[in-house]
Amino acid sequence: MHQDFLPPGIVVLTGAGISKESGIDTFRDKDGLWTRVNLEEVATLSAWHRDKKKVLDFYNDTRKSLRAAHIVPNAAHKALAHLEQKYDGEVTVVTQNIDPLHEMAGSKRVIHMHGRDGEIRCMKCGTVTASDEDLTPASVCPHCQAVGELRPNIVWFGEMPMHMEEIYEVLDRCGLFMAIGTSGEVYPAGGFVLHAATGRAPIPSSSTSSPAAIGPCSRNTSTDPPPRSCRPMSSASWRMASGYKERPYPTCHLA
Ligand SMILES: NC(=O)c1ccc[n+]([C@@H]2O[C@H](COP(=O)([O-])OP(=O)(O)OC[C@H]3O[C@@H](n4cnc5c(N)ncnc54)[C@H](O)[C@@H]3O)[C@@H](O)[C@H]2O)c1
Ligand SMILES: [Zn+2]
Repeated sequence: MHQDFLPPGIVVLTGAGISKESGIDTFRDKDGLWTRVNLEEVATLSAWHRDKKKVLDFYNDTRKSLRAAHIVPNAAHKALAHLEQKYDGEVTVVTQNIDPLHEMAGSKRVIHMHGRDGEIRCMKCGTVTASDEDLTPASVCPHCQAVGELRPNIVWFGEMPMHMEEIYEVLDRCGLFMAIGTSGEVYPAGGFVLHAATGRAPIPSSSTSSPAAIGPCSRNTSTDPPPRSCRPMSSASWRMASGYKERPYPTCHLA
């Protein structure tokens, strides 16, 4: 290969479906988490304010189930790690998952846009700390010593996803965008496919349902502009429309 040739970047958006075969339930499938748990009661900031013990217990249990010995990367996680290893260009996994299976499979460039299991954040001082300890309403922040202000460093419904600047940067320079195991119903991740579909990136997708955001317009091959409702938003206009700021975490599109 010519030394000056830089192969196009690849961005892979993954969702709960990629971890399903590793034994982790998705949200929205028939046997998904949503059929068993009312997420409004455990995955929102107001739920945390209302009943810290209930929310923290849910995440303590979640962490234990994600760390169970039988939860290991499956062929899809391994294939993505292999792709990153072998491909000369940049391969970035943008995952909505909080589980560590991409890293366990060997992927190095992983962006956890909805946070990750094994990290806690103090609502008072904002410090993020790696921790596998159970949290309780009496837990003390190791940084500012505030009591009862620690929560999992996981994005709840109504909160702004993390690392959005970095994600739009890799989307802007990618030549191929793939979506694996995501329903496309959670925004802004559901809009990445449209963002990438600006005529540069072919868009294969692997999911057992038909993601709402992956429609004919994302594979538009004509020279006509896509219908207005299907046009990708630029990262700048998305930020304006959503009132996006990197921190703190303002309200954005609900799932
Ligand atoms: N593993 C995890 O960390 C985990 C688990 C559950 C939910 N979540 C959260 O779920 C939210 C919802 O978004 P989402 O789109 O990721 O999940 P989702 O539940 O909305 O959709 C899951 C998708 O995976 C597909 N799917 C199911 N089994 C599959 C398989 N074996 N192979 C390939 N695809 C399969 C489904 O058809 C569906 O399209 C995200 O915010 C994410 O943080 C994460
Ligand atoms: Zn603190």
